[in-house]
Amino acid sequence: MHRFQTIIEPFRIHSVEPIRFTTLAQRSARLAEAGYNLFALHADDVLIDLLTDSGTGAMSRDQWAAIQHGDESYAGSPSWYRFEAAVRELFPFTHVIPTHQGRAAEKILFSVIGGPGKVVPNNTHFDTTRANVEYTGAEAVDLVIAEGKDPACLHPFKGNLDVVALEALIAARGAAAIPAVFVTITNNSGGGQPVSLANLRAVRQVCDRHGLPLFLDACRFAENAWFIHEREDGQRGRPIKDIVRDMAALADGMTMSAKKDGLANIGGWLAMNDPELAARCRNLLILTEGFPTYGGLAGRDLEAIAQGLEEVVDEQYLRYRIRSAAYLAEALERAGVPTVRPAGGHAVYLDARALLPHVPPLAYPGQALAVELYRQGGIRGCEIGTVMFGRRPDGSEAPAAMDLVRLALPRRTYTQSHMDYVIEVVTWVAARARELTGLRIVDEPPALRHFTARFTPLTPAP
Ligand code: F0G
Repeated sequence: MHRFQTIIEPFRIHSVEPIRFTTLAQRSARLAEAGYNLFALHADDVLIDLLTDSGTGAMSRDQWAAIQHGDESYAGSPSWYRFEAAVRELFPFTHVIPTHQGRAAEKILFSVIGGPGKVVPNNTHFDTTRANVEYTGAEAVDLVIAEGKDPACLHPFKGNLDVVALEALIAARGAAAIPAVFVTITNNSGGGQPVSLANLRAVRQVCDRHGLPLFLDACRFAENAWFIHEREDGQRGRPIKDIVRDMAALADGMTMSAKKDGLANIGGWLAMNDPELAARCRNLLILTEGFPTYGGLAGRDLEAIAQGLEEVVDEQYLRYRIRSAAYLAEALERAGVPTVRPAGGHAVYLDARALLPHVPPLAYPGQALAVELYRQGGIRGCEIGTVMFGRRPDGSEAPAAMDLVRLALPRRTYTQSHMDYVIEVVTWVAARARELTGLRIVDEPPALRHFTARFTPLTPAP
């Protein structure tokens, strides 16, 4: 039998949502009003919204049906039991604590285990994770392997944590200062790159030697499992669920944003085996999120997530999902646009520092490129670079490790022709990259400045 090669969207469209077209002049005006910060735009002025893959996906027919089963009982809702069972089917941790999204889980956990003098290693902290660690006075240290910091370097598991560096950190700071070791799967801030099972095992061994707990920031666990399935020796052909369970079995707990691989628009959880830690976290949960059988969520949200967790480990879905990012990345590569390679799971990351060598990091090449993609094509991406990470806790400013623009792909939302349009716009802007100039920040908050900072374009050099 002939095997057809085209990987198609494994769904057909059931309900459609219009997108709004604007003119170049309108977008230029919106940019000025927004202080050149794409987070300040009205979303209906955006044509293709690749700002984030978080909470922006399309839910399935079965998720919408599950919502009708939502039971809003304050305590002991059947929706909670369905949610808990769905989480524990994949991540069999003893204690599951629902939160309204990932950062709420982080806030609760780090409030309990963080604090001055503490150090939290991670392959790469996501911005809210870093902020939640630092907010407690603890230090967040990124220990991704060297390959993971070089956009052009090809490596199957660029998200891996450098275990030699982890050993060195433990030797330098002492195990007592490290409340947990984190591994982010996939490594979002490092390009959506996966972590191998072998690396998780190696990290586990280091943790065991020093009596340290290992936590997963598991937002994109299914995408990570698919990369393991495709790239790691001996894993091809294994059920995705089994690979997920293998990852879970190596950890002592997790934080999760169900807005990613929960296929839901809101939600998250914190899970762990340690009963004392769980009790302390639940006490904070009640203070800030809600009763332990709903956290910050409605019963209907718990249902949508439970259904999403069944759908996200489907092979047809994951094959299509990972192919979508690769399709975009390969076309841009053919067009000579520098990207983080290989393509990540949920996004394609443009290497703005390589594309705009004439714009120094402190003039924010990533922001300049992101602004121009919106101005020219109505595409909204997100700077992941010096704007996001350049301001240090001591108030100084320094270039981030990379200056990237992330084009994140909402799940099951855009079609291949939308991506063809994105390819055309990015290629056009990249061909004129030399004409772009940097920006200056005119106003910024003390932390997480990328969300609300206002910029002004630097005047073009004569
Ligand atoms: N950890 C990682 C790796 C993430 O990517 C995110 C969110 C979070 C934690 C926090 O989860 O948003 O539910 O509070 N990432 C989104 C993004 C916002 O655009 O990458 P949350």
